[in-house]
Amino acid sequence: MTDADCCCLINDIETKCVHGAGAFGTEGIRPISMPIYQTASFSHIEPGHNGSGFDYTRESNPTRAMLEKTVAALEGAKDCLAFASGMAAINTVFELFKPGDHVICGDDLYGGTVRLIKLIAKKNGVEVTCVKSDISNIKSAVKKNTRAIYIETPGNPMMNITDIAECARIAHGIDAFLIVDNTFLSPYFQNPIALGADIVVHSGSKFLAGHNDTIAGFVCLADKETADRIRLLTKTIGNGLAPFDSWLVLRGIKTLSVRLEREQENAKALVKWFESADFVKKIYYPGLETHPGYAVNLKQARGSGAMISIEVDSKERALSILKGVKVITFAESLGGTETLVTYPLVQTHPDVPEEVREKLGINDRLLRFSVGLESSLDLINDIKQAANTV
Ligand SMILES: Cc1ncc(COP(=O)(O)O)c(C=O)c1O
Repeated sequence: MTDADCCCLINDIETKCVHGAGAFGTEGIRPISMPIYQTASFSHIEPGHNGSGFDYTRESNPTRAMLEKTVAALEGAKDCLAFASGMAAINTVFELFKPGDHVICGDDLYGGTVRLIKLIAKKNGVEVTCVKSDISNIKSAVKKNTRAIYIETPGNPMMNITDIAECARIAHGIDAFLIVDNTFLSPYFQNPIALGADIVVHSGSKFLAGHNDTIAGFVCLADKETADRIRLLTKTIGNGLAPFDSWLVLRGIKTLSVRLEREQENAKALVKWFESADFVKKIYYPGLETHPGYAVNLKQARGSGAMISIEVDSKERALSILKGVKVITFAESLGGTETLVTYPLVQTHPDVPEEVREKLGINDRLLRFSVGLESSLDLINDIKQAANTV
């Protein structure tokens, strides 16, 4: 069987996770694991001809290229670029805009993205309007100079769901991009490009890498022309992912499907227990039928993921859980094998203005869980003992 025959048989996402963009081989050597091309530069055969397609690692590198093809295959994208972090990826997307352009953003965004908008996008003359990301608010925020709609669904940390296909219709009606941060569900559960998105961004540090051991980011594109613009920006800025980190993410992706199935199963077990726990006042999880975005999430995603936010009965209870957990780790980040609990008010969202935070529900009683691969019973018992010390 040839490699081309083999690629025709790679259809389902589980197979794409394991086999990525297909086999890599050179000069008769056919490794199972993609080699790490730890080189800054590549030799040339003659002026203007390198014989391999690679010149200099800031621009491109075979290990990074294999990762980019793999993530493009997972997202159903025309092209994908790997960055040194999720923020580097998002910042490069914002470089597509010029002074006077207008971008509509959802208000339930990762705090680092909010900081980027405040510190960098606005300084560069890009006008940004943040709205509660439902369709009517987004529609009424449209202006003559609107060039993009930027959403996260589920949003971080309130797990709000936005209808991707509806947003795409609004964006395309005004010749603007729809940009979706797909970090929380990963391409295993959701593919925004198939729903009409033009650009998908990821913090690859989360579910894609999956082991809390590296920082990475991705920009996936539905069209070649925008991909070429992003490639030129990356080459110019020099924010591409290093070869070793590219390899770590490639390795992580091989187990994406089994990790996410198990992490989601654990998350559902925790949600069920939270429903019966007296100290839990609110549960934000899109897999709950009572979640306002349940139906839309069901329509556009293949799962509800492993992220849960809860509001507990007092600040003291929240602090007791954060300080008292022993199996779960009190840390910033998400999407890895270890269960983490985060305090959004202090850790991930301090740059969101206080009045917006209050309106969203990011208060001193809100905790965010990224559920890992441990036994769900051990996780529940850990939260139980930590919560009951108040
Ligand atoms: C939804 C989301 N997008 C983007 C980022 C930024 O990614 P990174 O930390 O890899 O720069 C994060 C980080 O937590 C995130 O949660």
